[in-house]
Amino acid sequence: MEIEIRKLEKRDNRANFSSGNIEIDRFFIKYAGQNQFKHKIGVTYIAVEVKTQKIIAYATVSSSSLSINELDIPEYKKLPNYPLPILRIARLGVDKMYQDRGIGKMLLKKMLYLSLELEKLAGCLGVFVDAKDSAVDFYKKYGFEIVPVKKGELPTKPTPKLMYLSLKNIKRAL
Ligand SMILES: CC(C)(COP(=O)(O)OP(=O)(O)OC[C@H]1O[C@@H](n2cnc3c(N)ncnc32)[C@H](O)[C@@H]1OP(=O)(O)O)[C@@H](O)C(=O)NCCC(=O)NCCS
Repeated sequence: MEIEIRKLEKRDNRANFSSGNIEIDRFFIKYAGQNQFKHKIGVTYIAVEVKTQKIIAYATVSSSSLSINELDIPEYKKLPNYPLPILRIARLGVDKMYQDRGIGKMLLKKMLYLSLELEKLAGCLGVFVDAKDSAVDFYKKYGFEIVPVKKGELPTKPTPKLMYLSLKNIKRAL
Protein backbone atom coordinates (compact mmCIF):
# COMPACT_ATOMS: atom_id res chain seq x y z
CA MET A 1 0.00 0.00 0.00
CA GLU A 2 1.47 3.34 -1.06
CA ILE A 3 0.91 6.14 1.43
CA GLU A 4 1.43 9.86 1.10
CA ILE A 5 1.29 12.55 3.76
CA ARG A 6 -0.18 15.86 2.71
CA LYS A 7 -2.26 18.74 4.01
CA LEU A 8 -6.00 18.26 4.39
CA GLU A 9 -7.96 19.69 1.45
CA LYS A 10 -11.61 20.76 1.33
CA ARG A 11 -12.51 17.91 -1.02
CA ASP A 12 -11.23 15.18 1.35
CA ASN A 13 -13.90 12.91 2.78
CA ARG A 14 -13.46 12.89 6.56
CA ALA A 15 -16.82 11.35 7.43
CA ASN A 16 -15.76 7.72 7.80
CA PHE A 17 -12.63 8.17 9.89
CA SER A 18 -12.63 5.93 12.96
CA SER A 19 -9.67 5.62 15.33
CA GLY A 20 -11.58 4.02 18.18
CA ASN A 21 -11.39 7.22 20.20
CA ILE A 22 -14.64 9.20 19.91
CA GLU A 23 -13.10 12.56 20.75
CA ILE A 24 -10.26 12.15 18.21
CA ASP A 25 -12.79 11.15 15.54
CA ARG A 26 -15.28 13.90 16.35
CA PHE A 27 -12.60 16.58 16.21
CA PHE A 28 -11.42 15.40 12.79
CA ILE A 29 -14.88 15.03 11.27
CA LYS A 30 -16.44 18.21 12.72
CA TYR A 31 -13.70 20.72 13.44
CA ALA A 32 -10.46 20.02 11.54
CA GLY A 33 -11.85 21.53 8.33
CA GLN A 34 -13.24 24.75 9.79
CA ASN A 35 -10.17 25.26 11.97
CA GLN A 36 -7.94 25.09 8.90
CA PHE A 37 -10.05 26.64 6.13
CA LYS A 38 -12.19 29.18 8.00
CA HIS A 39 -10.55 30.12 11.30
CA LYS A 40 -6.92 29.43 10.24
CA ILE A 41 -6.02 28.25 13.74
CA GLY A 42 -4.49 24.90 12.89
CA VAL A 43 -3.37 22.76 9.99
CA THR A 44 -4.21 19.10 9.58
CA TYR A 45 -1.91 16.68 7.83
CA ILE A 46 -3.36 13.44 6.60
CA ALA A 47 -1.89 10.11 5.58
CA VAL A 48 -3.82 8.81 2.58
CA GLU A 49 -3.69 5.68 0.52
CA VAL A 50 -2.41 7.04 -2.79
CA LYS A 51 -4.65 4.97 -5.08
CA THR A 52 -7.99 5.52 -3.32
CA GLN A 53 -7.20 8.77 -1.43
CA LYS A 54 -8.75 7.11 1.63
CA ILE A 55 -7.72 8.90 4.82
CA ILE A 56 -5.96 6.52 7.16
CA ALA A 57 -4.50 8.91 9.74
CA TYR A 58 -4.34 12.56 10.66
CA ALA A 59 -2.41 14.99 12.83
CA THR A 60 -3.51 18.54 13.58
CA VAL A 61 -0.86 21.05 14.59
CA SER A 62 -0.78 24.71 15.49
CA SER A 63 1.91 27.16 16.33
CA SER A 64 1.48 28.11 19.95
CA SER A 65 3.35 29.59 22.87
CA LEU A 66 4.17 28.75 26.45
CA SER A 67 5.84 30.81 29.04
CA ILE A 68 8.65 29.35 31.06
CA ASN A 69 6.96 30.03 34.38
CA GLU A 70 4.16 27.67 33.27
CA LEU A 71 6.71 24.85 33.06
CA ASP A 72 9.24 23.30 35.38
CA ILE A 73 11.73 22.04 32.81
CA PRO A 74 15.40 22.40 33.82
CA GLU A 75 16.76 22.82 30.27
CA TYR A 76 14.50 25.84 29.69
CA LYS A 77 15.26 27.53 33.02
CA LYS A 78 17.52 30.24 31.58
CA LEU A 79 15.07 31.38 28.93
CA PRO A 80 13.24 34.70 29.26
CA ASN A 81 9.93 34.74 31.06
CA TYR A 82 7.55 35.67 28.24
CA PRO A 83 5.54 33.53 25.79
CA LEU A 84 7.94 31.42 23.73
CA PRO A 85 7.12 29.67 20.45
CA ILE A 86 6.28 25.97 20.30
CA LEU A 87 4.63 23.57 17.89
CA ARG A 88 1.60 21.90 19.45
CA ILE A 89 0.22 18.60 18.25
CA ALA A 90 -3.45 19.17 18.97
CA ARG A 91 -4.66 15.74 17.82
CA LEU A 92 -3.19 12.64 16.23
CA GLY A 93 -5.11 9.54 15.26
CA VAL A 94 -4.79 6.51 13.04
CA ASP A 95 -7.85 4.72 11.66
CA LYS A 96 -8.26 1.49 13.63
CA MET A 97 -8.06 -0.62 10.44
CA TYR A 98 -4.51 0.70 9.96
CA GLN A 99 -3.11 0.90 13.49
CA ASP A 100 0.12 -0.92 14.43
CA ARG A 101 1.62 -0.59 10.96
CA GLY A 102 4.00 2.28 11.62
CA ILE A 103 1.67 5.00 10.32
CA GLY A 104 1.42 6.90 13.63
CA LYS A 105 5.21 6.91 13.78
CA MET A 106 5.45 8.16 10.17
CA LEU A 107 3.03 11.02 10.85
CA LEU A 108 4.74 11.97 14.11
CA LYS A 109 8.09 12.11 12.29
CA LYS A 110 6.57 14.49 9.76
CA MET A 111 5.41 16.76 12.63
CA LEU A 112 8.93 16.74 14.07
CA TYR A 113 10.27 17.90 10.70
CA LEU A 114 7.65 20.66 10.72
CA SER A 115 9.04 21.91 14.04
CA LEU A 116 12.44 22.29 12.36
CA GLU A 117 10.79 24.43 9.67
CA LEU A 118 9.03 26.50 12.32
CA GLU A 119 12.34 26.99 14.12
CA LYS A 120 13.79 28.50 10.95
CA LEU A 121 10.75 30.68 10.23
CA ALA A 122 9.80 31.98 13.65
CA GLY A 123 11.69 30.08 16.35
CA CYS A 124 10.53 26.96 18.18
CA LEU A 125 11.31 25.53 21.59
CA GLY A 126 10.03 22.06 20.85
CA VAL A 127 6.96 19.96 20.16
CA PHE A 128 4.26 19.75 22.84
CA VAL A 129 1.30 17.39 22.93
CA ASP A 130 -1.62 16.84 25.28
CA ALA A 131 -1.35 13.07 25.36
CA LYS A 132 -4.20 10.83 26.31
CA ASP A 133 -3.26 8.21 28.92
CA SER A 134 -3.43 5.47 26.31
CA ALA A 135 -0.94 7.29 24.08
CA VAL A 136 1.65 8.40 26.68
CA ASP A 137 3.84 5.35 26.02
CA PHE A 138 3.61 5.89 22.27
CA TYR A 139 5.09 9.38 22.62
CA LYS A 140 7.65 8.18 25.19
CA LYS A 141 9.04 5.80 22.57
CA TYR A 142 10.18 8.80 20.58
CA GLY A 143 11.73 10.67 23.50
CA PHE A 144 8.76 12.77 24.64
CA GLU A 145 8.71 13.42 28.36
CA ILE A 146 5.86 14.38 30.63
CA VAL A 147 6.20 18.02 31.69
CA PRO A 148 7.03 17.75 35.41
CA VAL A 149 4.48 18.74 38.00
CA LYS A 150 5.22 22.23 39.28
CA LYS A 151 5.72 22.93 42.99
CA GLY A 152 2.33 23.36 44.60
CA GLU A 153 0.47 21.36 41.94
CA LEU A 154 -1.19 18.05 42.69
CA PRO A 155 1.19 15.13 41.91
CA THR A 156 -1.61 13.31 40.15
CA LYS A 157 -2.20 15.64 37.24
CA PRO A 158 -5.46 15.18 35.39
CA THR A 159 -5.28 13.78 31.88
CA PRO A 160 -4.44 14.57 29.14
CA LYS A 161 -0.79 14.81 30.07
CA LEU A 162 1.29 17.60 28.61
CA MET A 163 4.38 16.04 27.02
CA TYR A 164 7.26 17.63 25.16
CA LEU A 165 10.29 16.93 23.01
CA SER A 166 12.84 19.73 22.79
CA LEU A 167 14.24 20.92 19.47
CA LYS A 168 17.68 19.76 20.59
CA ASN A 169 16.40 16.21 21.09
CA ILE A 170 14.34 16.33 17.89
CA LYS A 171 17.51 17.08 15.94
CA ARG A 172 19.22 14.18 17.68
CA ALA A 173 16.32 11.83 16.94
CA LEU A 174 15.89 12.65 13.25
C1 LIG B 1 -1.71 5.95 19.40
C2 LIG B 1 -1.72 5.87 17.87
C3 LIG B 1 -1.64 7.25 17.27
C4 LIG B 1 -0.47 5.05 17.42
O1 LIG B 1 -0.44 4.95 16.00
P1 LIG B 1 -0.11 3.57 15.29
O2 LIG B 1 -0.03 3.80 13.83
O3 LIG B 1 -1.07 2.53 15.75
O4 LIG B 1 1.31 3.25 15.89
P2 LIG B 1 2.62 2.72 15.12
O5 LIG B 1 2.27 1.46 14.38
O6 LIG B 1 3.22 3.82 14.33
O7 LIG B 1 3.52 2.35 16.35
C5 LIG B 1 4.86 2.75 16.46
C6 LIG B 1 5.40 2.12 17.72
O8 LIG B 1 4.66 2.60 18.86
C7 LIG B 1 4.06 1.49 19.55
N1 LIG B 1 2.72 1.92 19.95
C8 LIG B 1 1.65 2.16 19.16
N2 LIG B 1 0.61 2.58 19.90
C9 LIG B 1 1.02 2.58 21.18
C10 LIG B 1 0.39 2.91 22.40
N3 LIG B 1 -0.88 3.33 22.46
N4 LIG B 1 1.14 2.82 23.54
C11 LIG B 1 2.42 2.40 23.48
N5 LIG B 1 3.07 2.08 22.35
C12 LIG B 1 2.38 2.16 21.22
C13 LIG B 1 4.03 0.35 18.53
O9 LIG B 1 4.03 -0.90 19.16
C14 LIG B 1 5.29 0.60 17.75
O10 LIG B 1 6.40 0.11 18.44
P3 LIG B 1 7.62 -0.66 17.68
O11 LIG B 1 8.20 0.37 16.74
O12 LIG B 1 8.55 -1.03 18.79
O13 LIG B 1 7.00 -1.79 16.98
C15 LIG B 1 -2.96 5.11 17.33
O14 LIG B 1 -3.00 3.81 17.86
C16 LIG B 1 -4.30 5.81 17.62
O15 LIG B 1 -4.73 6.61 16.81
N6 LIG B 1 -4.97 5.48 18.75
C17 LIG B 1 -6.29 6.02 19.07
C18 LIG B 1 -6.31 7.53 19.23
C19 LIG B 1 -5.27 8.07 20.20
O16 LIG B 1 -5.15 7.60 21.33
N7 LIG B 1 -4.51 9.09 19.73
C20 LIG B 1 -3.49 9.79 20.50
C21 LIG B 1 -4.07 11.04 21.06
S1 LIG B 1 -2.97 11.94 22.06
